[in-house]
Amino acid sequence: MSDLILPDYRVQTDAVRNRFARIKKRPVTMEVKGVSKYFSSKHGTITALKDINLTIHKREFVCVIGPSGCGKSTLIRIMAGLEQASEGEVRLDGKAVDKPGPERGMVFQGYTLFPWLSVKQNIMFGLRESGYNKGSAEAEARQWIELIGLSRFENSYPHQLSGGMKQRVAIARALANKPKVLLMDEPFGALDAQTRSKMQSHLMEIWKNIDVTVFFITHDLDEAIYLADRILVLKSNPGEVQEIIEVPIPQPRHPDQFLTAEFLATKKHLEQLIHPANQDDDEDHLNLIRMVPVNDDVGSVF
Ligand SMILES: Nc1ncnc2c1ncn2[C@@H]1O[C@H](COP(=O)(O)OP(=O)(O)OP(=O)(O)O)[C@@H](O)[C@H]1O
Ligand SMILES: [Mg+2]
Repeated sequence: MSDLILPDYRVQTDAVRNRFARIKKRPVTMEVKGVSKYFSSKHGTITALKDINLTIHKREFVCVIGPSGCGKSTLIRIMAGLEQASEGEVRLDGKAVDKPGPERGMVFQGYTLFPWLSVKQNIMFGLRESGYNKGSAEAEARQWIELIGLSRFENSYPHQLSGGMKQRVAIARALANKPKVLLMDEPFGALDAQTRSKMQSHLMEIWKNIDVTVFFITHDLDEAIYLADRILVLKSNPGEVQEIIEVPIPQPRHPDQFLTAEFLATKKHLEQLIHPANQDDDEDHLNLIRMVPVNDDVGSVF
């Protein structure tokens, strides 16, 4: 990729610039204000997050990338109210978050469906909890099942579904409660590449059709660029904001955009942030010894 002449990832067309201007005028949905998180361990104190600040506007799609252990899951758990910040706070529509709530839907990597409930019953579960009677919960669940294209499977159980189908149900279950924010921690991380790209398109379609703000953690740079309005790049030790990138690719997104100059320019920049060229990290090098005779023809294959 280094031989390609690419535009600067910060260059935006008028359409993209105007879109970001419109996003910034929308009300603020979530605010992360000066959030730090310390964990104590037998080796001392770990600063998992240090002074994280982020403002997310209504219906924005924010992706988070960063090396393993940089605090992505800790941050999303604090946003979900599952964990308390050591310093700072998270606000949702101006109100401090201190516990989980129905206005924040969550989808994680592990399949979290209730195995003893059918697809329809899984989606109805939260609706019943929030006071829907059986008939209206069922009608609502059916609409979601239709939206995720699983009408034929409404009475199937999780073990009868593929990984991709299970995550579609998990997304529908989270969205059925009409959360303001959907918090997703590597939701497609366990899927094969083909299913994963289908799921990205499904999620884009769903997001286009409903009023929800998305906060999405991934390790996959292509996934982040394809999905996000903005990408929060974290670095590790301590987990800090490295950069917040406005993705210069127009919405609505389409898989053809994976090969555009803006896409590649953004990817190149992210690669440089995540894997700096001169990083002297011994763990990244394999200490291989030659396992074949020196006069072999291994060299010729290259
Ligand atoms: N409950 C805990 N107790 C102690 N340390 C923790 C706890 N949870 C997380 N940590 C530490 O905080 C740091 C951030 O962890 P976290 O799981 O948030 O990273 P991550 O970016 O999600 O990593 P990955 O990409 O591997 O999922 C790590 O050093 C981790 O060991
Ligand atoms: Mg994690």
